[in-house]
Amino acid sequence: MEHTMFVIMAAGEGKRMKSDMAKVLHQVGGKPMIERVITAANNAGAVKPIVVVGAHREQVMEYLGEDATICIQQQQLGTGHAVQMAAEHLKDHDGYTVILAGDMPLIDGGTLKQLQQQAQSENAAAIVLTTRMDDPTGYGRMVKDERGNVLKIVEEKDATAKEQEIEEVNSSVYCIRTQPLLACLDELDNDNAQGEYYLTDCIAMLVAKGYKVGTWMVPSYLCMGVNDRLQLAQAERILKRMVNETHLMNGVTMLDPNTAYIGEDVTIGKDVILHPNVCIMGDSVIEKGCVIGAGSQIHNSIIGPNTMVESAVMHEATVGANCNIGPYAYLRPDSVVGDNCKVGAYTEMKNASLGNGSKLPHLSYAGDCDIGENTNIGCGVVFVNYNGMHKYRSTVGDSCFIGSNVNLVAPVHVGDGAFVAAGTTVTEDVEAGALCIGRSKQVVKPGWADEKRKKGQL
Ligand code: UD1
Ligand code: CA
Repeated sequence: MEHTMFVIMAAGEGKRMKSDMAKVLHQVGGKPMIERVITAANNAGAVKPIVVVGAHREQVMEYLGEDATICIQQQQLGTGHAVQMAAEHLKDHDGYTVILAGDMPLIDGGTLKQLQQQAQSENAAAIVLTTRMDDPTGYGRMVKDERGNVLKIVEEKDATAKEQEIEEVNSSVYCIRTQPLLACLDELDNDNAQGEYYLTDCIAMLVAKGYKVGTWMVPSYLCMGVNDRLQLAQAERILKRMVNETHLMNGVTMLDPNTAYIGEDVTIGKDVILHPNVCIMGDSVIEKGCVIGAGSQIHNSIIGPNTMVESAVMHEATVGANCNIGPYAYLRPDSVVGDNCKVGAYTEMKNASLGNGSKLPHLSYAGDCDIGENTNIGCGVVFVNYNGMHKYRSTVGDSCFIGSNVNLVAPVHVGDGAFVAAGTTVTEDVEAGALCIGRSKQVVKPGWADEKRKKGQL
């Protein structure tokens, strides 16, 4: 048998989202829903899934690029019509086609793999993935005979009161033998409440033709469909809970799991403590023993073991072991902090490195610079990296002392062990071991203020 084909329906207008953006591009867990569905298909053996696009198709096609084979459905005449748009890619196929909707962000590859195995082992013409919903409103109901054989799927709007009581619903995921599917699609009509060509009608047709049709019921979250922002938020919450539970079971403490926002590709070591309202996204890695303080945002960053982070924002940053970061530090892309460092309150780094044991404790901007080991950067030091046209890089060596309120006007190099006095604006290189002081001489005029005051001038 040939490999399975995958068709993802993503042409619908998504009216209920009330959005200018295509429904399937709305994100769950930081990824567009369509990307999640494609990943599930790929994990279940899809070579290049077929995606049927229609409404907002420029956006969807631009996003998908080469990840999918695109079919266009000019008019949204229904799910059956949508799959028909893929017929030219299916017509010579001799195997199963898995059909999915692009608005099911929580479907996974394992489920899709098992669905195919089930179809094969039962030698069924079709298996419909079904579930039981607490609130089945809006879903198609699985109508079966008294022996449990599938008869048809009835859409809610077409269902009798009795059929509406059925709890088992259609998830909109199917594994169907391709050739009988195509034959049924050709015979579909739109004689129903919505005037659409329903894919679901193919099921009754297959049954009528004597094919074996089965169902496989899975937990409802796997196949929840997102039609509006309320369901989008529900999907987000379910995914968040699953991710957080995995970390909790792996030895991560969360003061409030309801407010820990962790991307599913994040790695967190054991004995890490997450305070409320942390947001850790992308490919971030938090090594063991770290404490991530309330309100921290960490994106695509790596944090070494036993580091404390207090209310910091990090993007594409790397921090070593045993550091203290924050409160209110901002580490922008390509900030690299060594071990045993401090990057303190209201300090910003960008494209900058800080060597082991060095400190940037307060109110500094370190942009486009490399700072050696065991160097102390005083309060309010600015690496002046931009002259309005170009950016330049500066370096500070090991074991240096840079006094408070120093400006280092790039490009400058401060050698190992040098001292730079507070308030100095450094414009030329400072050799190793030197003292650099560059500020106007202090003048004190005794009695000046008292005098003025006496004359009423102060
Ligand atoms: C569909 C099923 C219903 C099932 C539910 C599960 C049908 C007729 N009904 O209903 O039985 O319980 O999913 O979530 O299939 N689409 C197109 N072109 C179209 C119409 C829809 O590509 O012309 C796409 C949509 O973008 C969406 C998917 O098909 O991704 C499902 O369409 P939607 O309108 O959401 O169907 P439901 O009413 O949810
Ligand atoms: Ca839907």
